Amino acid sequence: PHYQFILLDEVPSTNSYLKENRESHLENNTVVLAKVQTQGRGRLGKTFHSEDKGGIYLSLYKNENLTDYDIGLLTIATALAVSDTLDETAQVNTGIKWVNDLYLQGKKIAGILTEGTLEMETGSLSSFIIGIGINVNVDAFPEELTDIASSLSLLTKKTYSRNEIIAALLSTLESYLLLTKTDPKGLLARYREKLLFVGETIEVFRGKDTFQGTLQTVNDEGHLVVDCQGQRKTFNSGEISIRKA
Ligand code: BTN
Repeated sequence: PHYQFILLDEVPSTNSYLKENRESHLENNTVVLAKVQTQGRGRLGKTFHSEDKGGIYLSLYKNENLTDYDIGLLTIATALAVSDTLDETAQVNTGIKWVNDLYLQGKKIAGILTEGTLEMETGSLSSFIIGIGINVNVDAFPEELTDIASSLSLLTKKTYSRNEIIAALLSTLESYLLLTKTDPKGLLARYREKLLFVGETIEVFRGKDTFQGTLQTVNDEGHLVVDCQGQRKTFNSGEISIRKA
């Protein structure tokens, strides 16, 4: 598609920027890129560290042809698009922690935050925003994150062209987003190949509840399937997070 780019030096959050401006006049396929975010957001109200100039922080806005996509699989498609793009451009082997975290060598290097707006009258989706944060050439993290987060450059001891990654990512992303409708089974099959912790014991957090079980797979709706003491439970990504036990 033809993208409308908005380049910002600093913004609280590129997702929030699109949310705040969508009432006015945002074109379909607007992409906001920020050098730095001061309040990068993750899923479940978490923060996403994005103060470092070496990262990619971008959000894509769509408000047309939404029936071309299966909304329930957008995050899955995006995670796979980011993973495949990084694997190709940086010659690495990223894995996906359901539903939206990308890992390399046991550390998180990218995250995705998908947000939608509902039409008040009909309850149908009127637009969505896909936010992507990738730790590309980030050479330091705050102390409290060093055990869990890292960057492509730290892990591979190389630096990468962010523009090259962005260009490759946007084209892969659009084709994978369309696969949510045209070939969801094929998309999920590829997602499963990159899924981390299969067969391993994980903890699932849902509000105040915690479940422990063996991660089985991701089903055709993109939900996580966990064997909890012989009982098969499925979890929708909505308000869930997981951790290796
Ligand atoms: C997560 O780790 O749960 C998701 C992180 C998503 C971060 C990206 S960076 C660009 C966009 N703007 C945000 O505030 N968040 C997303």
